[in-house]
Amino acid sequence: MIEAKSLTMIYGNGHQATDDISFFIKPGEIVGFAGPNGAGKTTVIKMLTGILKPTSGTAIINGFDITKDPIKAKKSFAYIADNPDILIQLTGLEYLNFIADMYEVSEEYRKEKIHTLAERFGMTDVLNTQMREYSHGMRQKLMVISALIHNPPAWILDEPMTGLDPAAAFELKQMMREHAQAGNAVLFSTHVLEVAEQLCNRILIVKDGKIIEEGTLDYLKLNNPGMTLEEIFVKLTGKSETRR
Ligand SMILES: Nc1ncnc2c1ncn2[C@@H]1O[C@H](COP(=O)(O)OP(=O)(O)OP(=O)(O)O)[C@@H](O)[C@H]1O
Ligand SMILES: [Mg+2]
Repeated sequence: MIEAKSLTMIYGNGHQATDDISFFIKPGEIVGFAGPNGAGKTTVIKMLTGILKPTSGTAIINGFDITKDPIKAKKSFAYIADNPDILIQLTGLEYLNFIADMYEVSEEYRKEKIHTLAERFGMTDVLNTQMREYSHGMRQKLMVISALIHNPPAWILDEPMTGLDPAAAFELKQMMREHAQAGNAVLFSTHVLEVAEQLCNRILIVKDGKIIEEGTLDYLKLNNPGMTLEEIFVKLTGKSETRR
């Protein structure tokens, strides 16, 4: 499970990016995190994953408090960051082994897992190529594989579909469904509302650092008769205006 408890972030420059964000994602649920650019999605995800220390509030992942018990909490989730351009001087395989070492994944298990995941994402032939030569989508696929290598219960994914080709996006969506159906919690941010519509049990809509609407698709549609999720989103969040 993934729980945000009153997460508030005021950045060093005094900018308040999130204000008292709370939610609970129970095992078996896929929850979509939607909101305009600058709404605070990445900031919340970075606080959930312990990358940013909240100004106040905390997060509990699978029973472990991310501030009090960070190692146990971190071992229990997979995280995909919003930018895949890291350690690009390594080959894909070197990067995957580096991550597998960190999570103490056995040689035997990682070999099997890397093989299966690389096949699923069509990355087998490029694993020995330096990531600097990868396209954006290939880097993103490798981040997906690296996040799943240690098979943790919770998945926290920041725009995981960005840059993936349709076949890879299809695979990832399928894997998210399988993971939730196996009794795990999945949170992902997205700008693609069709994806949220296809995948989510529940959607959180965030604007100006606050959750302004939350519920199942059925609930949102019942409250907004005859509207698509896209229309509901635009109605709730207003015109596209990047916030600073
Ligand atoms: N390091 C930082 N210092 C100061 N302000 C920041 C910092 N990082 C983000 N912000 C601000 O916090 C707000 C929320 O940013 P955040 O990246 O969380 O938004 P987001 O919802 O993920 O947007 P997007 O959809 O574009 O990814 C924005 O106003 C942004 O300018
Ligand atoms: Mg973001």
